[in-house]
Amino acid sequence: MIQTEDMEFAPRVITPENTVEDSDIDVTLRPQTLHEYIGQDKVKENLAIYIEAAKRRGEPLDHVLLYGPPGLGKTTLSGIIAHELGVNLRVTTGPAIEKPGDLVSLLTSLSDNDVLFIDEIHRLSRAVEEILYPALEDRVIDIIIGKGPAARSIRMDLKPFTLIGATTRAGQLSAPLRDRFGVIQRLELYTTPQLTDIIRRSAMILCIPCTADGAEEIAGRARGTPRIANRLLKRVRDFADVMGDGQITKEIASIALSRLEIDNLGLDGLDRRMLEMIIRGYGGGPVGLETLASAIGEESVTLEDVCEPFLMQLGFLGRTPRGRVATKLAYEHLGFKLPDHSDGAGEGQLSF
Ligand code: ADE
Repeated sequence: MIQTEDMEFAPRVITPENTVEDSDIDVTLRPQTLHEYIGQDKVKENLAIYIEAAKRRGEPLDHVLLYGPPGLGKTTLSGIIAHELGVNLRVTTGPAIEKPGDLVSLLTSLSDNDVLFIDEIHRLSRAVEEILYPALEDRVIDIIIGKGPAARSIRMDLKPFTLIGATTRAGQLSAPLRDRFGVIQRLELYTTPQLTDIIRRSAMILCIPCTADGAEEIAGRARGTPRIANRLLKRVRDFADVMGDGQITKEIASIALSRLEIDNLGLDGLDRRMLEMIIRGYGGGPVGLETLASAIGEESVTLEDVCEPFLMQLGFLGRTPRGRVATKLAYEHLGFKLPDHSDGAGEGQLSF
C-alpha cells in the first residue's frame, strides 16, 4: 500500500463546511429574497409557488426537506423562505437537540407559522425524532410527566409551524421522518457561470474590485459551491492587495489559487490524494470507501460528502457495488498513463 507523504491536517481552503471565518461574511453576503438568490432555478420556482399558495391561504408552508452536498445554501434558502413568508426563523442543528425536552422548548416557543430550521437533521436521536413525528403530523406533542407507575402522558397543542430540515445525507433519514416532509428538494452543485455571478455580487457587496474574468477564474475552481467561491474570493483579495493594486484579475486569481494548491479544475490536495491512492495503490479500483479513507488518513464521511460529489460531477470517480474506481479522465488529468491490461482490478472504470 502506498503511504502519502504530505498528510495535511490543516483545514482545507476549499472545505465546504462552515468555518468560524465564514460566519461574518455569510451574513453580509446572504441573499434575503428568492429574486436575489442565484442558481437552483427549479427549487426556487417550486418554492415560490408553495410560498405564495401558503400565504394566500394563511397557512404555514408544508414541511420542507433540503438535501445535497454541503455549502450549497440550505441555510440561506431557509432564511429566504422565512423572509418571503414574513415569519420568524429559528435555527438549530440535529446534534444540538440533545434531549426530547430541548425540542419541546423549541417547538413551544414558536409563533404562528414560524419556520424552524434543523440543519444536519439526520443526526437527531431516535428519542427526539419520536417527539417530532406527532408534532409534524398533527401539531401536537406528547409529554410524559412523572416516573414509574405514576407517569402519565399529556398532549399539548402546538402553533402552526414549518419545519425545514437540511441534510447532506438524505439516505440516512429514517423513513417515518422523511415521509413527513411534504416538499423534498435536492440542491445541485452550481455551474461556473452561476458561481461567477455569485462572486461578482459578493465582490460588489464587499467593495472588492474584480474583473469579469477574475471572477470567472475563481468560479471555475470553486467546485460548484458558493461557500467555497466566497471564501476563495477573500483569499484572492489578499493576494490582489499585496501583490497587485487591489483589483482581482484573471492573472492574480490564477497565481493565488495555484499558491493555495487548487488546480485549474478546483481539485485540492485531498481530491488528488484520493484519486492517486485509487490509481497507484489499488490499480484504479474498485476499492472500498473505508479502505481508501484509512489509506489516506481521512475520514470516510469527508471523502463521501465533500470529495465524491465533485469528483463524480467531473466524471473522475465512479461508484460501483465493489467500491470506488478512477476513470480515464482522472488518469488523464493527474498525468497517469492508462493501464494497458484488459482485465484485473481497475479495468472496469476505463469504459466511463
Ligand atoms: N451567496 C451564497 N450563495 C448565494 C446564492 N445562491 N445566490 C446569491 N448569493 C449567494
